[in-house]
Amino acid sequence: MPTRSYTFSHAITRAPGAGVAQGLREVDTGAPDLALFQAHHAAYVAALRATGAEVTELGPLDQFPDGVFVEDAALTLAQGAVILRPGAPSRLGEAAAMAPILARFYGEVAAITGPGFIEGGDILVTEREILVGRSARTDAAGIAELTRRVAPWGYTVRELQTPPGVLHFKTDCSLLDEDTILATPRLAACGCFDGYRVIPTPEGEEAAANAIRFNDVVLAPAGFPRTAERLAAAGYDVREIPNSEAARLDGGMSCLSLRFTPPA
Ligand code: GLY
Repeated sequence: MPTRSYTFSHAITRAPGAGVAQGLREVDTGAPDLALFQAHHAAYVAALRATGAEVTELGPLDQFPDGVFVEDAALTLAQGAVILRPGAPSRLGEAAAMAPILARFYGEVAAITGPGFIEGGDILVTEREILVGRSARTDAAGIAELTRRVAPWGYTVRELQTPPGVLHFKTDCSLLDEDTILATPRLAACGCFDGYRVIPTPEGEEAAANAIRFNDVVLAPAGFPRTAERLAAAGYDVREIPNSEAARLDGGMSCLSLRFTPPA
């Protein structure tokens, strides 16, 4: 029986545009190189497609420098989609832009209307529950509204805390299968994954914690060989995707796509 938390027939991505130079970042290591970012993005899309998924590639949104990070705009579940409410003011409009795209696949889509805020990077959907980390972008009111929206679909939401100084909850963790989470030791130390098997990122490779399980493969950022070895040793089929330019904007594997199977 396919799992709803990592078996998907579809994905949505958005190409990086010239605006990425103005993307939000915690530490300025220089603007991303657009041509290199586009090449990395193409490798990412190809890796999704190679699993058999249908990938809808959207064009760049020049008024939204962070629009390439489509995950923050919506939550896509087996029963329905929810347009989110990003906590970064410059990103709020990205959610509205995603609504008509998701309507093509889901028909009617739900929406977080506020006053709270919630970004997709703070939401980890596992086979048994939805974990949401409060962060600088996601607050208690946003989590409470999401909880009400997804309850009729049978999901329980567990509110957690994203570590201080970390952009999103999933900056520090990823779902690998029904029972297994890849996580930084600093996040796992909070006990939030008790009951799951945790594979810790090796010291110095915390930035590898944002990966995605997508069908039979795990897409992981290139440049973290000990994490890749650890995942391979645990039996995962790892695809290393270059991510240096998205990383300049604190973006990673999960941020770059919405992953879902439209309701039948
Ligand atoms: N640059 C991605 C974000 O800050 O939301």
